Amino acid sequence: MSRHHPKTVLITGASSGIGYACARHLASLGHTVFGTSRQPERALPLCVKSAIESLTSLHFLVVDVNDAEIVDRAVDEIVERAGRLDVIINCAGFGIGGSIEETSDDEVRALFETNVLGALRVIRAALPIMRKQRNGLIINFSSIGGLMGLPFQGFYSATKFAIEGLTEALRMEVRRFGVRAVLIEPGDFSTGFTDRRKLVTASESSDTYRDAQQHVLSIVEKDERGGKSPESIARLVARILRKRYPRVRYTIGPVAQRIAAGLKRILPSTWFEWILSMYYGVRS
Ligand SMILES: NC(=O)c1ccc[n+]([C@@H]2O[C@H](COP(=O)([O-])OP(=O)(O)OC[C@H]3O[C@@H](n4cnc5c(N)ncnc54)[C@H](OP(=O)(O)O)[C@@H]3O)[C@@H](O)[C@H]2O)c1
Repeated sequence: MSRHHPKTVLITGASSGIGYACARHLASLGHTVFGTSRQPERALPLCVKSAIESLTSLHFLVVDVNDAEIVDRAVDEIVERAGRLDVIINCAGFGIGGSIEETSDDEVRALFETNVLGALRVIRAALPIMRKQRNGLIINFSSIGGLMGLPFQGFYSATKFAIEGLTEALRMEVRRFGVRAVLIEPGDFSTGFTDRRKLVTASESSDTYRDAQQHVLSIVEKDERGGKSPESIARLVARILRKRYPRVRYTIGPVAQRIAAGLKRILPSTWFEWILSMYYGVRS
């Protein structure tokens, strides 16, 4: 299939924010897009809205990436309806705020379940089809938080570090089948992510980290709410779809955050940690 032909694209977490922006933009370019939401009450109105806006190639499916069977069924349905699956975009995810010490095992599991295993389930369901086609593109959403451990978002960072490692390895494993894998590492964008961030339950009744946590998360929220809307990410995704040999990673977002990502690569770790600690006011 030529790089410029319309492609069949599956986007998880397409009911909001980055996923929704990507779904609309790719459909407006003529790609056949299947976006997902866990909630029928969100997916159905989005189907109607796309029809009203003449985005006839944008469809929504009800999918919870925490459920492997549902993911497999969704991929089967797409192949049945569109005849192929060229691109998967793993966007579904959420954040959690709280200290490493106070985050429970269940909270860590729930985060990895969606942010890491959710992406893995979609990859596993799609790869046999992509291998057979000898063509496919996997786009995994990491984060600037996948390049550096963020205080009071440590486990969110851990899920994105996992996505980074998984994608780097996957690229080398699937290249021989004509399948490419790419990381997108956004900085702060204004989406539903901030309001959906969960707070570690134990932190609500403990004062061990209260002041530092509140201070850091207030900076995080201010940065996110002040971020741009995610259309530039959607345009980046459309450009990646046209590339025969996409890069390993694409960092996108506010200049200061892209500079931070660059500094992390070149500075001694303790210097970088000092800068980050100063920024978040967690020097003691
Ligand atoms: N916004 C940022 O500043 C930012 C920065 C860096 C990275 N990111 C990453 O970008 C991705 C998208 O985030 P966003 O900012 O667009 O957030 P968002 O507006 O909150 O959207 C998150 C999407 O994920 C879906 N979702 C959550 N859990 C799911 C599950 N178990 N199964 C299926 N779908 C699920 C939600 O859909 P339903 O609730 O309808 O199911 C929603 O569509 C995430 O991976 C996030 O980590 C965001």
